[in-house]
Amino acid sequence: MKKEKLAKLADELHKCTACTFRESAIAPVGWFGNPESPIVFVGEGPGGVEDDYGCPLIGPSGQLLDKALWSVKMTRNRVLTTNVIKCRPRNNKTPNIAEADFCGKLWLEKELAIIQPKVIVALGGVALHFLGNADMRITKDRGQWFKTSQGFDCIATFHPAYLLRLSGHDLVTAKWDVFHDLEAAREKVIAAAPDYQLSSEAPTNLFSLFEKRKK
Ligand code: URA
Repeated sequence: MKKEKLAKLADELHKCTACTFRESAIAPVGWFGNPESPIVFVGEGPGGVEDDYGCPLIGPSGQLLDKALWSVKMTRNRVLTTNVIKCRPRNNKTPNIAEADFCGKLWLEKELAIIQPKVIVALGGVALHFLGNADMRITKDRGQWFKTSQGFDCIATFHPAYLLRLSGHDLVTAKWDVFHDLEAAREKVIAAAPDYQLSSEAPTNLFSLFEKRKK
């Protein structure tokens, strides 16, 4: 049921020309994972690799996310990953709050209404601002539960791209913060959906599932 509803939404998404971001992208990038997943990870928006492959969080940030998920016994095929913004912004510009709001209300909110996740993990500031509010700050508010406007339980953590820019002590500290945030998310999702299997036997190889959209 959720699978069919999401497939219909994906068809609509692929026709979207509602904003100028579509002009610089190959095509919109939707979501990946299990529609029945009780946990959803929300990133910012596709970068170049995601635009090339049509899969969210498949590039360097996604690979780091996959390692982090593996450390808390989750794999990408069993959870669901998506973004606030669906089309790669020109020059990978960070979307502003109005841009994120426009796209998020058009698509992400509809995805979440279908999926009805027990837990959402917001990856970084753009997802936190959309799912929480514009006054929230990732440095101050990560690791704390809040309700989204749709009534879902949400926790924010650092975006993997932020970790990729850190080194030394700052990197170690931030990695532990992310680990603890993911553990908190895992604990909550297990309490809410104890029978759901959050991992497969091996991490998901996204590059074996997706091909470049433009050769
Ligand atoms: N790729 C994505 O799909 N989302 C991000 O937030 C960053 C890179």
